[in-house]
Order: sequence, then structure tokens, then C-alpha cells
Amino acid sequence: MNAITSASAIRKVHVPLGQRAYDILIGQGLIASAGGEIGSRLNGRKAAVITDENVAPRYLDALKASLDAAGIASAAVVLPAGEKTKSFEHLINVCDKVLEARVERNDYVIALGGGVIGDLSGFAAGIVRRGVRFVQVPTSLLAQVDSSVGGKTGINSRHGKNLVGVFHQPDLVLADTDALNSLSEREFRAGYAEVAKYGLIDKPDFFAWLESNWQAVFAGGSARIEAIAVSCQAKADVVVADERENGQRALLNLGHTFGHALEAATGYDSSRLVHGEGVSIGMVLAHEFSARVNLASPDDARRVEAHLKAVGLPTRMSEIPGTLPPAEVLMDAIAQDKKVKGGRLTFILTRGIGQSFVADDVPASEVISFLKEKHP
Ligand SMILES: NC(=O)c1ccc[n+]([C@@H]2O[C@H](COP(=O)([O-])OP(=O)(O)OC[C@H]3O[C@@H](n4cnc5c(N)ncnc54)[C@H](O)[C@@H]3O)[C@@H](O)[C@H]2O)c1
Ligand SMILES: [Zn+2]
Repeated sequence: MNAITSASAIRKVHVPLGQRAYDILIGQGLIASAGGEIGSRLNGRKAAVITDENVAPRYLDALKASLDAAGIASAAVVLPAGEKTKSFEHLINVCDKVLEARVERNDYVIALGGGVIGDLSGFAAGIVRRGVRFVQVPTSLLAQVDSSVGGKTGINSRHGKNLVGVFHQPDLVLADTDALNSLSEREFRAGYAEVAKYGLIDKPDFFAWLESNWQAVFAGGSARIEAIAVSCQAKADVVVADERENGQRALLNLGHTFGHALEAATGYDSSRLVHGEGVSIGMVLAHEFSARVNLASPDDARRVEAHLKAVGLPTRMSEIPGTLPPAEVLMDAIAQDKKVKGGRLTFILTRGIGQSFVADDVPASEVISFLKEKHP
């Protein structure tokens, strides 16, 4: 159970969540064979395909043709690209379009795109008719290794990111690794930060493999499929252990507490910092902080930084273009992101490469003096 199996070049990761169990298929050409993969597992007749204007011209026709060939009628909804699309306005529009397409509970909402499209469509699928089937066809690396797996869906509110949504697991995830060829180098690298994260959480051998094979992962082919399959398996394991994020799922936030603070400090301006870049800097900071409190060796932090630097990710706050607010303001963002109890914070710390753990008693005073050192 729960193992990666390989049949030809397509890898399968099973997510054993009882009645909500599903498969993640990873490999080349899966968009062109999507209709067959969906049709052989599920029995719906109609689909609403939700996508964005960058992805539609590249992959929508191929997906539609494969659905047609499998006898699945589809309507497409093409939305503007970008985080702003995760809004109430677009949610209403998507729900209406899904209903107009007469998608019934056994039919499908199909998300063709990055995490923005996946989160929004998954939410719509979770609430239209109190829940219709949902298929993810993630096209960004971040979506293939992270957001398409696990069932968290949602939109942003004026009070903050991802504050409105539901848990709604997909029925199938089809990660076509060739689709990543049209992703910008910067977006690919940003997604790669999450791949490296799985190694740093609890897979030291995987991290070492990435150190030797990252170029092949960037190039495509079997190393890319392998890296994505290991990442999906890692995420699936955490999700199965803690579907609704009551405990261990927090490990997935390695590097994210610092990363989110940096994203907030740059006003979520993607020209300055995208999420994965914040995570990259955040993971180095988490390892350095762990060394500072004598949990891990400083050599581990240096090793993490060397690898992320090698792939071209930023690793230092000073690499973010523009001026960052002072350490106290970054600390406020951290305190808002994480609940502070009696001056103590919950953080993901590490005892070394692949030995991360949830620490729930980190003194805020220690974090602030560390930040002042790093960002004088
Ligand atoms: N649900 C979860 O568990 C979860 C986890 C992590 C992140 N997220 C969410 O995911 C979102 C970020 O996802 P993302 O990084 O994929 O962002 P995104 O969906 O905005 O995609 C990034 C950019 O790449 C473009 N793009 C996507 N695939 C492409 C392709 N194959 N070729 C060319 N361009 C392509 C998109 O149009 C967009 O401009 C955030 O909203 C975040 O909150 C959700
Ligand atoms: Zn992330």
C-alpha cells in the first residue's frame, strides 16, 4: 500500500484516503491521454475544464480532443492568469459556468493549470451541487508536487490569502511532465524549492540525489518524473497521516514561516519575490536558526544553501530587489502567520538534513535577535 509503482514510463502514486482515495499519475504525454485515463477510472459524461490564458493556448485543445475521443463532452472556462483570479468574483463565474455546462455530481470539474487554477476550481467543485468530481491536470511544477495533492482548495479574501475554501480531494491527478517545458525558468525553479523541501523534511537520500541530479530534473525526462513522483509520494504520506492539518502536516511548512513573512514584506509583488523563492530563503534561514540554537550543524545550513544557489534560487534576504522592512516588522509578520503563545512560536526546525520536526516552544526573542543579525 502507498508505494510508488512503475508501469512503463508513467508513475503512479496512490493516496489511500478510504472513500476519498485517488491516484496521481506522473509522466510524459498525460494531457493527450487524459480522456482515456479519466474514462477508464470514472464514469462521468461531461466536464467543465477551468484553465487560464497562458495555459489554454498551449494545452486546452489537446485536452479537449482526448476528452472528445473518450466520449466526454466538455466546456472550457479561460480565466486571467495570476493570483488575483483566486477571488469571490471568479468563483461565482466558475460555479455558474459549471452549472451551465450541466455538470452533475458524477461528472467532472477539470483544473488545467497552476496552483491558482487548481485552488479555485477545486473550491468550485467542492461546493457546486455540494460536491462534484474533481480532476487536477497541474501544469506548473509547484502544482504537480504540491498544490494538486492533498485536497486543500480555496480563494483569497481581503483579510488574507487562502482564507476561504474547503477540503475537497481530487478523484484523479494527471501530472504531464512535458507541460513543464513551457514554464518559465523562474517558475520552474520556484517549484523546485518545494521539491528540495521534501528532501529536507525527512528524505536525506532524496536531497543527496537532487544534489547530483538536479540538472537532469530541469532538463526533463525520467529524472524529472522521478523527482515529481518522490515529491507526490512525500506529500501524500503527510496528507494521509493528517488530512486536515491538525499536526504533522505542519512539517510541509518547512521554510514557510520565514518565506511567508518575506512575501508579505514585499507586498506579494511577484516581480520581487515569488513563493518558492521565499521558501528557498526561508529554508536556509530555518537551517541557520537551527544551527544557532545548537540543534544542527552549521555545515548543514551551508550545504542547503549551496544546493539552492546552484539551481539559481535566491538564498539570502539581501538578494530580494528593493528594500525590506526592518527585522521588527518581519517579526510582526511571523507572529501573525504563527500563533504566539506566551512569547513562544511554533516553527519547523531541524536536527540536520532530512531531520525536520515541529518545535512549538521557540522563544520569539531568539527569532528576533537572529533576524536582526541576518538583516541588520
Ligand atoms: N492547495 C494547496 O495545497 C496549495 C499548496 C501550495 C500552493 N498553493 C497555491 O498555489 C498557487 C501558486 O501556484 P503556481 O505557482 O502554480 O501559480 P500559478 O497558477 O499562478 O502559475 C504560475 C504562472 O505560470 C503559468 N503557467 C502555468 N503552467 C504553465 C505552463 N505549463 N506553461 C506556461 N505557463 C504556465 C500560469 O499561467 C501563471 O502565470 C498559490 O495561489 C498558492 O496559494 C496551494
Ligand atoms: Zn509552499
